[in-house]
Amino acid sequence: MRILLLTHAFNSLTQRLAAELRQCGHEISIEFDIADTVTEEAVALFRPELIVAPYLRRAIPESIWSHHVCLIVHPGIIGDRGPSALDWAIQGGEAEWGVTVFQAEAEMDAGPVWASVGFAMRTARKSSLYRNEVTQAATSAVMQAVQRFASKDFVSQAAATFPNLRGRLRPLMKQVDRCVDWACDDTAAVLRKIHAADGFPGLADSLFDKPCHLFDAWPEGIVRGKPGAVMARRETALLRATVDGAIWIGHVKRSGGIKLPAALAFEREATAVPELALADWWRCESPTWQDIAYEEGGPVGVLHFEFYNGAMSSAQCERLRRALQWVKQRPIRVLLLMGGLDFWSNGIHLNLIEAASMAQGSAADESWRNINAMNDLALELINTGQQITIAALGGNCGAGGCFLARACDLVWVRDAVLLNPHYKNMGNLYGSEYWTYLLPQRIGLDAAQVLMRDRQPLTTRRALQIGFADACLEGDSTVFRREVRERAATLAGAPDLEQRLAAKCQTRQRDEAVKPLAAYRAEELTQMRRNFYGFDPSYHIARHHFVHKSPASWTPRHLARHRDLGWQIP
Ligand code: COA
Repeated sequence: MRILLLTHAFNSLTQRLAAELRQCGHEISIEFDIADTVTEEAVALFRPELIVAPYLRRAIPESIWSHHVCLIVHPGIIGDRGPSALDWAIQGGEAEWGVTVFQAEAEMDAGPVWASVGFAMRTARKSSLYRNEVTQAATSAVMQAVQRFASKDFVSQAAATFPNLRGRLRPLMKQVDRCVDWACDDTAAVLRKIHAADGFPGLADSLFDKPCHLFDAWPEGIVRGKPGAVMARRETALLRATVDGAIWIGHVKRSGGIKLPAALAFEREATAVPELALADWWRCESPTWQDIAYEEGGPVGVLHFEFYNGAMSSAQCERLRRALQWVKQRPIRVLLLMGGLDFWSNGIHLNLIEAASMAQGSAADESWRNINAMNDLALELINTGQQITIAALGGNCGAGGCFLARACDLVWVRDAVLLNPHYKNMGNLYGSEYWTYLLPQRIGLDAAQVLMRDRQPLTTRRALQIGFADACLEGDSTVFRREVRERAATLAGAPDLEQRLAAKCQTRQRDEAVKPLAAYRAEELTQMRRNFYGFDPSYHIARHHFVHKSPASWTPRHLARHRDLGWQIP
């Protein structure tokens, strides 16, 4: 079938649906919901048999839904309506939730139901539930709905006809519905409220008597204090007391500003707050805020790095590199690089780079520092001779993060993960992290060029097919983490481990003799210097729009296939 995906943005859910539907043999094209006339033009060009809307912020015009079946993906159970479905579900403490696919009609969110898939709720940020449970359920529901549509004999039913209907129309959740009363709300309630607003719009509150939106909250198990008071800082997070405990706040957005690590957004105020370092940086303390942690089980070491949104600043890269150097001295044979729950890595920290430019500093200098710190980290990984290194990707991974993962000997990926191993979407960025060494040796030069040029997301299955990934493991994050440990232990106990390590060192020496890593780095950085300091400001403009979330004014041509010159209905 020809299916048009009509969406507000090419977000992870839309990427996943596009990839899955293509894998089923459907012809997919994408149009951003910019204006009714643009949508009408896209429909006229592509002549879709079906329109699927995974992520919309406005209604589909009647001129479209009255002539085409348009299936809307709603992150709510049958009967649920309104723009804050997940926010209400999290804040209301729902135990079970779901995704419903219904047909667009005149009344918003009220059309007949084509499919619905449920899931168990988890204590997590809205964005985390969206990227995991919602995306998984939405993928199943859309696949079911598309099959039902293709069968031509399915009769969709109005939500009201379903028995035991729990869902109902709920309004947009406003900040008055979210606000925290620090003198009354306990830790669980504060967490629920911040989670329900994270990653967007954040919870409106104040810190140091300045208004800001709060994000990235973590419970603290030990420290207590006067409710509402900021008691301590650790790295970039701030600790604030509740009535029955305390929570760490990792990120904030100040009025007129952008989302930043809390202690950096309030840099001056935070210096007066006492530092509460962990007794041992590596020991997994729970519950608390800890962005880098290490555990060991026999010959297997596990390095965790939980960086918000997968963005890695110069300081985080440097701290992770020092942690890695320390871990490499441990008596282990296999090292798992576990990353975070939602993201493994998304490369350099674009918000901190943007913040440098907003503070009259140099975004080019900060970009340069950050890419060099990423490269130093990648180099430390590539030059690991005593252990087999494994990137265990339980969460999505993009841009430089993908090549940092490829700097490990093996890349094991959870099957629901999406990879975006390319840089050009960020204003034609050339990219570094030794990708010119790491990628062609895995997938071949031609395939590497195609991957970089086409800028399409890769499903795990596709990544495995082309050789970018080495293994695909099923299950949720908990199952994945258990399984990678088991596999790593088997690898560490394998009789050929010593040979494997020796072969790896030989290959590295041989490669170094043919062309030193320093040469790859210098070539990549020559291009990056141009991106950062050169006459073409595309990277700075693209980063600005990305960080400030400027609405798209057109659909990128590599997504809108129907706009290709000479495109014809197959
Ligand atoms: N730096 C700072 N923030 C980043 C980031 C980065 N490198 N990559 C992602 N984010 C943030 C987004 O701004 C968004 O923030 P929010 O919580 O305020 O909404 C959040 O992470 C999730 O990103 P989103 O784009 O919504 O996720 P996705 O899963 O739909 O898409 C990517 C994932 C990787 C395709 C997309 O985030 C991306 O293109 N990131 C930039 C990668 C990049 O160019 N890095 C620099 C070169 S190494």
